[in-house]
Amino acid sequence: MAILKILHYPDKRLHTVAAPVAQVDNAIRRLIDDMGETMYAAPGIGLAATQVNVHKQIIVIDVSESGSRLQTFINPQITASEGQAEREEGCLSVPGIFDTVTRAAKVTVQALDRDGNPFTLDAEGLLAVCIQHEIDHLHGKVFVDYLSRLKQTRIKTRLLKHLRETM
Ligand code: NI
Repeated sequence: MAILKILHYPDKRLHTVAAPVAQVDNAIRRLIDDMGETMYAAPGIGLAATQVNVHKQIIVIDVSESGSRLQTFINPQITASEGQAEREEGCLSVPGIFDTVTRAAKVTVQALDRDGNPFTLDAEGLLAVCIQHEIDHLHGKVFVDYLSRLKQTRIKTRLLKHLRETM
């Protein structure tokens, strides 16, 4: 397994729209393993392939207390959503920035698992938020895009400054 490099906002590649996975093969499973390792090492609770500059519809999530329940969603689609919930979000691609985003409280998601088998999952709470956040990444959207223009500009300035300082 390998730890992959995570793209940081405002990298334009984060706005790439991911393509569906045509076949779940060993190469895809290797990528999923690497994404899991990268997410745990960061550490984070969710990672989309977009964030490691692979533009395929794959996300990994682990919202368990123990950090030992990796969930994989390939070609995920939200088929139903309900209610509204506000939660403070962060993102491995936007280090050090946290802000409140309003999303659906409950979602139903259809996807393929790491063996290519279709499944349907009803999610609420943190898992529901995480699924919506990660699917956004596959559509080229970062949570910062939900914030005001002023906040977006501030975040860009701060992260670009940080980037220059660490180069
Ligand atoms: Ni994110």
